[in-house]
Amino acid sequence: MAGELEGKRIAVTGAFGSLGVAVVRALQAAGARVAAIDRAERPHAEAELGEARLFGGADLAEADAATATLDRAADALGGLDALVNIAGTFRWETVADGRLDTWDLLYTVNLRSAVAASKAAIAHLAKNASGRIVNIGANGAVKAGAGMGAYAASKSGVARLTEALAEELKDRRITVNALLPSIIDTPPNRADMPKADFDRWVKPEQLADVIVFLLSDRASAITGASIPVVGRV
Ligand SMILES: NC(=O)c1ccc[n+]([C@@H]2O[C@H](COP(=O)([O-])OP(=O)(O)OC[C@H]3O[C@@H](n4cnc5c(N)ncnc54)[C@H](OP(=O)(O)O)[C@@H]3O)[C@@H](O)[C@H]2O)c1
Repeated sequence: MAGELEGKRIAVTGAFGSLGVAVVRALQAAGARVAAIDRAERPHAEAELGEARLFGGADLAEADAATATLDRAADALGGLDALVNIAGTFRWETVADGRLDTWDLLYTVNLRSAVAASKAAIAHLAKNASGRIVNIGANGAVKAGAGMGAYAASKSGVARLTEALAEELKDRRITVNALLPSIIDTPPNRADMPKADFDRWVKPEQLADVIVFLLSDRASAITGASIPVVGRV
């Protein structure tokens, strides 16, 4: 809804990726000012991110980098009302033929980076009357299929982080929620699954709409929720 986030100062991680770009655009359309954070040095197309302040080259799994980047983002925006943790990645590997290192990689990218960014943001969010954290989990983590073990384990961690942090931050009036997407309609997914019915997949813009709602004043009573947003998958 236009103007729903007027004046809100929001940090988005994984902001240069497929979902991140759509979220940054939706937040700005709703009136927010955005710090776009990513490990990649720069976005594929800078223009897509509008007026967002860009913080590339930040590996959020590194505690010092996470703290320094969230501090710089808060400085640039004049404070922080919300953090959206989108940074993440995917691997499909069976246990028998896959590598043990993949479990460490997905834990690091999908869970550790969300913990480090949240930890770095809390002091900034607590200065306001209604802080917000939104995490991106995965619906595929509710019950893992073959080859999905490492990914599902890491995204299950995101769900548990969401619950624990929601309880921890209740008295500081910071809500913490997660979205559980199914397959997102992104160019890489289309390239990987060319015969799929793309129309059934959830669009980045549909996920962004739910995030805008969770960041708005209308969602102030929702915390600790992991919300499936799955399209027709
Ligand atoms: N795509 C799907 O179908 C799907 C389904 C369910 C859930 N999800 C989740 O949704 C989120 C976004 O997915 P997406 O498809 O938009 O992914 P994407 O296009 O790969 O974007 C993810 C972005 O996060 C960045 N990133 C990774 N590790 C980071 C770190 N340690 N610190 C800072 N930035 C980091 C990546 O940078 P690099 O390019 O340098 O790696 C990339 O720019 C992810 O959490 C993903 O697990 C995706």
